Amino acid sequence: MTSAADSRLVLITGASSGIGLALACVLASRRVPLLLTARRRELLERVAGRLRHLGGAVEAHAVDVADLRSMRDALSAARDLGGLSAVVNNAGVLQPIGPVADTDPQAFEQHLRTNVVGVLNGMRLALQFRGAGQPLRVVNISSGAATRAIRGWGAYCASKAAVNQLTQVAALENADGLTSIVSVAPGIIETAMQRAIRKEDETRFPDVGQFVTLKDKGLLLAPVEAAAALAWLVLDAPLSLSGSFVDARSAEVQEQVRAWQASREDGTAEMARAQSCFDELEAVA
Ligand SMILES: NC(=O)c1ccc[n+]([C@@H]2O[C@H](COP(=O)([O-])OP(=O)(O)OC[C@H]3O[C@@H](n4cnc5c(N)ncnc54)[C@H](OP(=O)(O)O)[C@@H]3O)[C@@H](O)[C@H]2O)c1
Repeated sequence: MTSAADSRLVLITGASSGIGLALACVLASRRVPLLLTARRRELLERVAGRLRHLGGAVEAHAVDVADLRSMRDALSAARDLGGLSAVVNNAGVLQPIGPVADTDPQAFEQHLRTNVVGVLNGMRLALQFRGAGQPLRVVNISSGAATRAIRGWGAYCASKAAVNQLTQVAALENADGLTSIVSVAPGIIETAMQRAIRKEDETRFPDVGQFVTLKDKGLLLAPVEAAAALAWLVLDAPLSLSGSFVDARSAEVQEQVRAWQASREDGTAEMARAQSCFDELEAVA
C-alpha cells in the first residue's frame, strides 16, 4: 500500500551514517523517492546504490549543508523526482567540546555553520522546491540538549536551541495548513556521534560517565528503531504539529508510531529490509 506522501520526494541531509542513514533505509524500504546528501561522496554513493536495490528512486549528492548553492544544485538535479514532500535537516556535529572559557571562536563558528546555517538552508530550499498546492513536512533534528545545559557542550546546546527557535519562527511564518515545520529530540541513539562522546576526556566533558553508563546498561536506542518515529513525522504525522518540539521518545508519540506501523500491511517485512540494509551499510561506514 502506497500513500500519496510515499510517492513524493524526501530530502535527507547527513544520510551517509547514523540516524540519517537509518531513516534513508526505512523510507527506501517503502520505496519513497529519496534525495540523499552528506559530504563523504564515496560512502554516500555506496548508500544510494544499495538502497536502489530496494526498488525506489534514490539520488545522492555530496554537498556540505552550509553551502546553499550546492544544496540548491542538488535539488535542481533531482527535479525529475518531483516536488518535495519533506525535508529532514539531520546533518549535525557535536564538536567543539570543552568549557566555554576555552572554546575557539572559529571552531564555534564552523559548528554553527553546519548545525544552524545548514538547517536554515534546508528550510529555505524546502519552501522553494515544494510541490505546488501539496503538503510539505520539514523535520529538523534537534536534541534534548536544546533545552538542557550540559557542561562542555556550549556549542551544541546553543546550536540546537537555535534550531528550535528557527523552527518555531518558520512555522509561524508558514501557517497555511499545508506546511508542517517541527524540531525533534530523537532520543539517545547508538551512532558514530555517541561512540565519539564516550571517548571524550572528563576534563572537557565532565558528564561523560553518564553516557558510558547508558551504553553499559543497554539504554541506547538502535538507529533503525529511532528512524521509525522520524518516518512517521516525515510521511504521516498531523500537519497541526507544526511549530512543536517533538519528543520522539514520549509515550504519546510512541503510541502513534506503533499504530501507524501496525496499519501498514507489509510493515514488519519493510522494517526487516531496512535493518539489514542499515547493518550492511553501517559496517562499511
Ligand atoms: N546520536 C544521538 O544520540 C543524537 C541525539 C540527539 C540528536 N542527534 C542529532 O542527530 C543528527 C545525526 O547525528 P548522528 O548521531 O546520526 O551522527 P553521525 O553518525 O555522526 O551522522 C552525522 C551525519 O551528518 C553529516 N554531516 C556532518 N556535517 C555535515 C556537513 N557540514 N554537511 C553535510 N553533512 C554533514 C555526516 O556525513 P558526512 O561526514 O559524510 O558529511 C553524517 O552523515 C545530528 O543533528 C545530531 O545532532 C543525535
